[in-house]
Amino acid sequence: MNSNKIREVFLEFFKSKQHEIVSSAPMVVKNDPTLMFTNAGMNQFKDMFLGNTPIINKRVADSQKCLRVSGKHNDLDEVGHDTYHHTMFEMLGNWSFGDYFKKEAIEWAWELIVDVYGMDKSRIYVSVFEGSDSDGVPFDQEAYDLWKSFLPESHIIKGNKKDNFWEMGETGPCGSCSELHFDLRDDSERAVIDGASLVNMDNPQVIEVWNLVFMQFNRKANGSLEPLPSKHVDTGMGFERLCMALQGKKSNYDTDVFQPIICRIAELSSVKYGEDIKRDIAMRVIADHIRAIAFSIADGQIPSNVKAGYVIRRILRRAVRYGYTYLNFKTPFMYKLVDTLAAQLGAQFPELIASQQLITKVIEEEENSFLRTLATGINLLEGVMSKTKDAGGKVISGEDAFVLYDTYGFPIDLTELIARENDMSVDIEQFEKELAEQKNRSRNAAAVETGDWIEVVAISSSEYVGYDLLETDIRIARYREVASKGKKLYQLVFDKTPFYGNSGGQVGDKGYISSANEKIEITDTQKENNLTVHITSTLPTNLGGSFRAVVNSVEHTASSNNHTATHLLHEALREVLGNHVEQKGSLVQPSGLRFDFSHFNKVTHEELQEVERIVNSKIRANSVLIEKIGRAHV
Ligand code: ALA
Repeated sequence: MNSNKIREVFLEFFKSKQHEIVSSAPMVVKNDPTLMFTNAGMNQFKDMFLGNTPIINKRVADSQKCLRVSGKHNDLDEVGHDTYHHTMFEMLGNWSFGDYFKKEAIEWAWELIVDVYGMDKSRIYVSVFEGSDSDGVPFDQEAYDLWKSFLPESHIIKGNKKDNFWEMGETGPCGSCSELHFDLRDDSERAVIDGASLVNMDNPQVIEVWNLVFMQFNRKANGSLEPLPSKHVDTGMGFERLCMALQGKKSNYDTDVFQPIICRIAELSSVKYGEDIKRDIAMRVIADHIRAIAFSIADGQIPSNVKAGYVIRRILRRAVRYGYTYLNFKTPFMYKLVDTLAAQLGAQFPELIASQQLITKVIEEEENSFLRTLATGINLLEGVMSKTKDAGGKVISGEDAFVLYDTYGFPIDLTELIARENDMSVDIEQFEKELAEQKNRSRNAAAVETGDWIEVVAISSSEYVGYDLLETDIRIARYREVASKGKKLYQLVFDKTPFYGNSGGQVGDKGYISSANEKIEITDTQKENNLTVHITSTLPTNLGGSFRAVVNSVEHTASSNNHTATHLLHEALREVLGNHVEQKGSLVQPSGLRFDFSHFNKVTHEELQEVERIVNSKIRANSVLIEKIGRAHV
């Protein structure tokens, strides 16, 4: 079975079990401040587990683009060095939202793997949660008994909290889980060492493929577990690992998911894959990273110096450096892999084709600028080396190496490599010390401590009424305390709100809420998934009372006008420059707007004038907006 067929069989199977097949959510997360990238298939359903969003379909399945390069789930260091971790990977998943639970989840997993995919039963091991006294969660006897009807007990392993209790992050939905592991070793090796002893032991041939999570709790900020309103199933299967197992390969990179890219890298570098360990690692790193980078750009995340953009820039630089050092690529090469990737995955992920030209251009530009950084770094390093030698030393100081790394973006392992080539070394201990201090400084600057929500009145959703009203009476539904940079703030959620939460590039509203005896300033309004969160530095005294919520209407109207102008600008840019113009970023505030977009040339003065003329004429037309439900605004 080729990989496209393997994916199709998975989705068809769950369709036959009455699941709705949905599209992958974007890999770049825009509406959840706790995440930069989708790191599990369940992210887009987080609010359904927590009971914040109504459940529309109780059974869903998909193939989700995931990226594990930051936060709790981070595999970056292993990628390329081993054969089965990736930055970007596809996670096949099926979900039950308050519908079926352990029995069906386990029975269907077995049916799909053994009866449909034809996996050899004797190579399958499963794990179940042994229980945790500290969390008050018992051994998962139910899952154990269910597996016993399919497998001998010697193939059922009890796992601890680290392996068999899945949590999305420090807080949030979680529960015990049961994993399917495949033993892909040759029979001769299997005869000598029992596969059960190798489960979860980092053996590249005895690997976890599918994780069935039985979601039952919400982990709160104080570490305690709170039962969720209903019980759910959340499963995630590593698509590339499944392909390795079903295609009888020993490495994910030997499957048809990666081979076309590896072959292209081999062609461009004139290096054969499989002949030298270091070069093989470099080829795997590049084959892996090009996927993460291309999909991120397709999802609108351009490499940059901040947040998600910085993560992508670092991944790209990691790949370029491996190519530079081990495959002798001294000019841009990554961008030449985009066509291969689009040809291979474009049918499943059409965004790759839609943005192919943009992805190619952006990567080439990034490569050019990083290769310039490398050239500058090498010059500086030569200076440092001769300074060291002149002083009679052979060791480059940790401070010098750190300045090269931190200020000039010059990778430390390249410093070490070049030092070695010159019969010198680097004081790595001192370098690590400098790095740790730097990390500490930025951690303290960025740390946000978020308390648990405290409910005042129960609500199922909080309606935004600001299209019609800029002031109205509200009740506080829940609140929590957050501490950032040593400052204590409060977040409030109302039963309904006239405040616009920061989204679509438009900054959040400001204003106040007041009652007979107090007036509390709202300094910002943010969106967190489906919640509108109002920020204040003072907690109201009468939390259960009724308040008048009043938006600063002057600023709100100025922002709204600029938001409308953003749409007019986007449309005019498309008219003048062409339909390829895509929004890549946007900031809308009372004082003005910024609109980032993709285009391959510098916009000429004449084109800009034409764009301005179109936007102004639309504004002057002062069109009447007729809403579907009867109201008219001018
Ligand atoms: N959410 C589970 C995981 O990512 C399925 O492993």
